[in-house]
Amino acid sequence: QKAPPHPDPGNHHHPQVTTNLKLIARDLDKILHHYEKGNPEKLYTGRGPSTESMHVGHLLPFMFTKWMQEAFQCPLVIQISDDEKYFYQKTDKKIKPLEYFRKIGVENCKDILALGFDPELTFIFRNSDYVGTMYKNIVEFQRHITYNQIRGIFGLDSLNGSENSGKIAYPAIQGVPCLCTSFPHIFGEKKNGFCMVPAGVDQDPYFRMTRDIAHKLKFIKPGGIYSRFLPGLKGYNSKMSSSDETSAVFLTDTPKQIKKKINKYAFSGGRATAEEQREFGADLTVDVSYAYLKYFMEDDERLRQIGEDYASGKMLTGEVKKILIDELQKLVKSHQTRRSSITEEMVHQFMKIRPLFK
Ligand code: TYM
Repeated sequence: QKAPPHPDPGNHHHPQVTTNLKLIARDLDKILHHYEKGNPEKLYTGRGPSTESMHVGHLLPFMFTKWMQEAFQCPLVIQISDDEKYFYQKTDKKIKPLEYFRKIGVENCKDILALGFDPELTFIFRNSDYVGTMYKNIVEFQRHITYNQIRGIFGLDSLNGSENSGKIAYPAIQGVPCLCTSFPHIFGEKKNGFCMVPAGVDQDPYFRMTRDIAHKLKFIKPGGIYSRFLPGLKGYNSKMSSSDETSAVFLTDTPKQIKKKINKYAFSGGRATAEEQREFGADLTVDVSYAYLKYFMEDDERLRQIGEDYASGKMLTGEVKKILIDELQKLVKSHQTRRSSITEEMVHQFMKIRPLFK
C-alpha cells in the first residue's frame, strides 16, 4: 500500500503556518526577527537534477530565493541532489549511471545561476562531491529517524521492500544542510543558527521531518516558504513533467513553441463559444493561463483587471492566452540570453569550498 501523497501544509490547521494565494510559510516571522537583530543565518534551497530540461515551474522557488538573498544579504546554500535522482530514476528503462546525474547537475546549475545569485554569498554543492563534510550530521539524523517514519513520510511501500535502500537513506541528506555545522567553511565554529528554506510545496515532508529531529538534536527548527505548485498546462489536476513536452513550458523552448503550446494545450476556463463567454464569463478557478499570469505578471493592477474582464466575459480566452504568450516569451528569452553567458567554469567557482562574505 502506498502512503498518501504529500499533504499540502496549507490545509493543516497548524499555528506556525501562514498561507496566501501563491505561498505557504512556516516560521516566516523568525527570519524577520533574526534580520532585525542583524543576524539572518542562512537560506537553503536545491534542485534534483533529473533531466537537462527545467521548466518554468522550477524557476519559481529560485526566483523567490534570489529575491530573499537580495533582501537579507545572507549566505545561501544550494544542494544539487544527484544522489536522490540516481536512486529515484525510473527502473523500466536502462538505468543511467551516477555520472549522468552529476553532469546534468552542472547543466541545471547554469539555469540556476542565470538568475543572478551573488557569488560572494552563494555556495552550491553536489551531494556526490560534498557529502563527507555533512556526514557527522547525516549519521545523527539517521540515528534519530526510524525506518517506519521514513516509509510513512515518503511513501516507499509500493514495491514491498524491493526499492533500493538509497531511498531510505536519502531524506537525512536533504535535511542536514539546514544545520550550519554542515558548512564549517562558511559558519566556522558556530553551532546553531536559523535556516530558511524557500522551495516548492512538495518538498515540505523533508523539512517537517527535519523540524521533528531538531527537537531531539537541539538545533533551531528550520523555517520554510513554499511556492504552491504551478499546474501542468492541461489543467489544475495535471503535472508539469520533464518527460512530456506538452505538459509544460520549458526553459529551452523557442517563442514559436511557447505560442503553440499555450494556444493548443493551456486548459481554458472560458466558455465553448464567444457568445456564451460574453454572457457567462470564464471560470478563473480552473483556467491555466490565468493561473500562470498570477505567477508571472509583475503588474498586479493589470492582472486584477484581466481577471475581472475575463471573469465577466469582457475578455475571451484567446486574448488572455495572447497576453500570457507574450509574458512567457519575454521571460524565457531573457533567461536564455543570461544562461548563454554562464560557463562550466563559473559553476565550479560557485562550488568551491570557501568562506562567504560581503
Ligand atoms: P526538483 O528538482 O524536483 O525541483 C526544484 C525546485 O522546484 C520546485 N518545483 C516547483 N515549484 C512550483 N511549481 C512547480 N510546478 C514545480 N516543480 C518543481 C521544487 O519544489 C523544488 O523547490 N528534492 C529536491 C531537490 C532539493 C531541494 C532541497 C529542494 C534538494 N534539497 C532543498 C528545495 C530545498 C527536488 O528534487 O527538486
